[in-house]
Amino acid sequence: MSDYLLETKFPTTRMRRTRASGWLRRLVQENTLTPDDLIWPLFVVDGENQRQSVELMPGVDRLSIDLLVESISTAVEFGISAIALFPHVDQSLKTPVAYEAVNPDNLVCRAVRAVKEAKLDVGVICDVALDPFNSDGHDGIVLGGEVVNDETIEILCRQAVIQAEAGCDVIAPSDMMDGRVGAIREALDKSGFQNVVIMSYAVKYASGFYGPFRNAVGSDVALIGSKETYQMNPTNSDEALREVALDISEGADMIMVKPGLSYLDVVHRVKKKFEMPTFAYNVSGEYAMVKVASEQGCIDYNKTVMEMLVGFKRAGADGILTYHALDAAQLMKSG
Ligand code: PBG
Repeated sequence: MSDYLLETKFPTTRMRRTRASGWLRRLVQENTLTPDDLIWPLFVVDGENQRQSVELMPGVDRLSIDLLVESISTAVEFGISAIALFPHVDQSLKTPVAYEAVNPDNLVCRAVRAVKEAKLDVGVICDVALDPFNSDGHDGIVLGGEVVNDETIEILCRQAVIQAEAGCDVIAPSDMMDGRVGAIREALDKSGFQNVVIMSYAVKYASGFYGPFRNAVGSDVALIGSKETYQMNPTNSDEALREVALDISEGADMIMVKPGLSYLDVVHRVKKKFEMPTFAYNVSGEYAMVKVASEQGCIDYNKTVMEMLVGFKRAGADGILTYHALDAAQLMKSG
């Protein structure tokens, strides 16, 4: 604390003075949340006119492509900047080597093409990882009981390229294999996608907060073992800075920290140290905590959502991936 702060004293200094009325509180406000800061993750399923509720995420649905496009156009009306797509593919399409991940006509690629055809002013972000397509639920290929790094990267590169071909604006590797950002950058560039952005899940922890998501994409059905050999140990934050440094050196344009709420210190350290566009993923389990607690009458939904989201901004995030995005954008519009 600087010296002049130590010298300020009551009663000359009264902190409550600038909290006394609404206009004054607004005037001295340090951080603001706007719909520009929001990325809305959405779950997509095959079929037409399909809306399936996600059991562990009350208020969140899996949508078929037609309804997905409608929802996204609503989000655009409320000013949301970007959406992130996650597929729930039929169990029969899942194999140990995740063939479906590199099928140019898979659910994600069809969804991207449909969103692009609607010509909406919104960024489309696609995950690069094998878990929605893999019969064992892992983000990489399992060989001899191990999630193998370099073999997985080759498949991730193809997955990134077919998503870019479908029109995806931002490739978001969430798999945590070593060296994948550089390999994906090279593969995209070679295929003529120099301007496709990479938003790296550089810091992704082996978290208990992903449970509802795995249920939403169906990767929980067969998940064997844990993801601790590739996702980070929740006790570490120096290691997070090394992960970010590597991904930047390999060509990441944007950095993500995930999950969000339990890792705001990491968001802060990453933003301070690297001054890169930095995002926090307010993940499925965090969504469920707020949603279920508010449904039980424990907390006020609107108030806690806005408080939580501005908290990410205060920690240093430039934007937030959150299942609350549409609710929050609607609240902002209604003041
Ligand atoms: C996997 C992936 C996960 C999430 C996004 N991408 C889950 C996992 O690592 O098992 C979780 C997102 C959430 O919980 O909302 N590639």
